[in-house]
Amino acid sequence: MRIAMIGTGYVGLVSGACFADFGHQVCCIDKDGSKIDGLNAGVMPIWEPGLEALVKSNAERGRLTFTTSLPDGVKDADAVFIAVGTPARRGDGHADLTFVFEAVRELAKFIKPGTVVVTKSTVPVGTGDRIEEILGEEGVTGVSVASNPEFLREGAAIADFKHPDRIVVGAEDEQAQDALKEIYRPLFLNRAPILFTGRRTAELTKYAANAFLAVKISFINEIADLCEAVDADVQDVARGIGLDNRIGPKFLHAGPGYGGSCFPKDTLALLQTADKFGVGQRIVRTTVEVNDERKAGMVERVANALGGELKGKRVAVLGLAFKPNTDDMRDAPSIPIVNALIERGAEVSAFDPVAHEQAAKIFSGIEFAADAYAAAANADALVIVTEWDEFRALDLDKVAGSLRGKVLVDLRNVYDRAEAEQAGLTYYGVGRGRLERN
Ligand code: UDX
Repeated sequence: MRIAMIGTGYVGLVSGACFADFGHQVCCIDKDGSKIDGLNAGVMPIWEPGLEALVKSNAERGRLTFTTSLPDGVKDADAVFIAVGTPARRGDGHADLTFVFEAVRELAKFIKPGTVVVTKSTVPVGTGDRIEEILGEEGVTGVSVASNPEFLREGAAIADFKHPDRIVVGAEDEQAQDALKEIYRPLFLNRAPILFTGRRTAELTKYAANAFLAVKISFINEIADLCEAVDADVQDVARGIGLDNRIGPKFLHAGPGYGGSCFPKDTLALLQTADKFGVGQRIVRTTVEVNDERKAGMVERVANALGGELKGKRVAVLGLAFKPNTDDMRDAPSIPIVNALIERGAEVSAFDPVAHEQAAKIFSGIEFAADAYAAAANADALVIVTEWDEFRALDLDKVAGSLRGKVLVDLRNVYDRAEAEQAGLTYYGVGRGRLERN
């Protein structure tokens, strides 16, 4: 199949590279000339494990090309995927569809009859209908519109694409269904479940999936608070409930609250849809509130561990990206923590294995250290904010030796209290026994 992919962000680039790897002929299109020049020279705009090698090998085989010219990219395509950004609009959380509709108006001039236009971007229910209308307004006929939401986790996006739990295709006609069946045939042959639904159902499925995962996280975070009050251990509670197949063990890690490019944005967009149709959605609304409060309040845990006062303290922060294996800082829990530390008069030395460049655009007045131990040097407390693997195997004796104050605030429950105490550290986890508050 000849595929055009409009937008070379996370979703577009990973999907484009993986489709090429399946053997399709893929042209990735982006307005950002420097991004396209970089990709043509083998330079990735994002940090994602395995992506560079996948892009290079498919580009070398001539199956993956990059261009800024939308006409060139879409004119012969059997399927045009739209994977442009749908950022939350400032103020109301609405998904901003400007880029999606711009792309549709433009591609309408160049696509051939029989093409299938597919939204990969996360778009509110009814967007596919609107796209169909726009194509009609532009005089396009014989073109189908489908929805094919992505469920990729940053840091594991290629594996998620190639071994999906399911593929969801929302299509209103056979032309769209057949095209997507053909595009996903390699996964189909691997017995990946492929679910054909109506277009609006597929659009909603994406929001419902992310909202449900966000609910799970906020749920376990509130249970963690309860654990701290009643002297119970949230890790054991999570295991105890997660072994029940009906609940499942995933997304039950208590921590500083969820961040990233999807959950915060998609939960708000779901609420916007609910408001528009006058439907409650109290569970998701509360989940958002719980998460916002949690992230804003995390700095109190550091203050508490340091006796209540942050002024004049030096705090080492490990992990800045919103999760491991990415340099993505969008809605990262580190942002309110670091900003509040600085506002309250603390010095911050931070280390993240890959996110310094992105973080430098957000924070001013923090020091970036060369590694975890350098960050810890002379600090009053070490705070683990993101659970990168390399923070799981720190030499705690060495950490304790570098620190001025012997305090470990482990917001991801990477360490056991006993091993931290053995190294002479005072340990503060999340939801792990009674938390004495100052
Ligand atoms: C998510 C979805 O998982 C993916 O299917 C969707 O398409 C895009 O959004 P992503 O945002 O990359 O992926 O990361 P994910 O691993 O889901 O984590 C999101 C946030 O939740 C992170 O901040 C993470 O730290 C947090 N989280 C996750 C928890 O706090 N606890 C958990 O148990 C799991």
